[in-house]
Amino acid sequence: MKTAISISVGVLLIGTWVAVAAAPRPGGERVAAVAAVRSAGLAPIGVEEPKYTYVGSKKCKMCHTDEHKSWAKTKMGQAFAVLQPDHSKEAKERFKLDPAKDYSRDSACLKCHTTAFGEAGGYFIPDPEDKKSARAAKKLEHVGCESCHGPGSEYIKVFMDILMSKRKYKVEELYAVGLEKITEATCAACHNEESMKIHPGEAFDYEKRKAEGIHDHQPMKQREG
Ligand code: HEC
Ligand code: HEC
Ligand code: HEC
Ligand code: HEC
Repeated sequence: MKTAISISVGVLLIGTWVAVAAAPRPGGERVAAVAAVRSAGLAPIGVEEPKYTYVGSKKCKMCHTDEHKSWAKTKMGQAFAVLQPDHSKEAKERFKLDPAKDYSRDSACLKCHTTAFGEAGGYFIPDPEDKKSARAAKKLEHVGCESCHGPGSEYIKVFMDILMSKRKYKVEELYAVGLEKITEATCAACHNEESMKIHPGEAFDYEKRKAEGIHDHQPMKQREG
């Protein structure tokens, strides 16, 4: 009997794993699937620990001041703040959300209003008594750089080398260490049917919204191809 249960749990988890492995942005879900598989005491072949973690938008600011400055002025650069009570009152009333309520610890909202909520190394709900935990979470508030560009722990080291050595690079080198190619699917992680249900608005037009403003763009000088 015990065996039958553990096999069915295993099948269920592996089913989840296969489904998430095929998802457009597998990074974080893959991490979650690995954690689920691990906590069930299973160790499927070919499933590894997460390789990359999230460093926070401030780390990118060091070398990308203009992108950071312009991003911080957009709504995505302030997306966490709107979850605070009395913020964006009119919008919340329009959406039949409660303007007086504090949504900033509500996981139903955090997954789209922070960076990588629930993923290993992503945003988490901090313990208000623990300053260290609050600081770690704070750096991943809002829709940060890594929400679109992927977890930075490794590729920032390569960028550092590119900067210091003044060498040319091909972007594929960075894609191999966590930088993600941005497509419409990147945005659809949050601009989707679920968000339209919570706060109905215009349908998401990728080219239009991309042009509307994510951050200012700088010419790449060391990139080849
Ligand atoms: C599935 C992703 C997703 C979830 C979940 C989500 N949001 Fe949002 N939220 C968005 C997106 C995307 C926008 C921007 C819509 C647009 O501009 O097209 C947005 C916009 C908003 C705005 C508008 C702010 C403004 O600048 O006018 C408020 C307020 C808001 N969300 C609150 C919430 C609250 C509260 C929750 C939880 C109950 C929540 N959201 C859950 C994705 C999400
Ligand atoms: C992690 C979730 C997430 C991802 C990924 C995401 N967005 Fe957003 N986006 C939001 C939320 C949340 C808001 C609304 C924030 C608010 O109003 O406070 C928003 C707002 C916007 C806005 C309005 C900005 C402004 O200042 O008016 C644009 C434009 C936009 N998103 C475009 C995009 C595009 C293009 C992509 C993909 C390249 C993308 N977003 C990816 C969550 C996301
Ligand atoms: C909502 C998604 C999104 C967010 C958030 C975002 N970017 Fe981007 N970023 C893009 C897109 C789209 C491009 C255009 C290139 C492409 O299509 O791949 C881009 C391009 C870049 C480039 C290439 C040079 C340039 O200026 O175009 C750099 C550097 C960059 N982003 C850094 C950042 C930094 C730093 C942050 C955080 C402060 C950030 N990005 C936040 C979507 C995003
Ligand atoms: C130590 C400096 C440094 C840091 C920190 C840094 N970058 Fe960069 N980044 C660079 C350099 C150098 C380039 C190449 C610039 C060029 O070619 O002119 C670059 C290029 C990029 C590009 C363009 C890639 C391409 O060729 O399409 C993106 C996107 C990017 N960085 C995102 C980020 C994000 C997101 C972070 C934070 C997680 C970050 N960077 C942190 C130095 C840095």
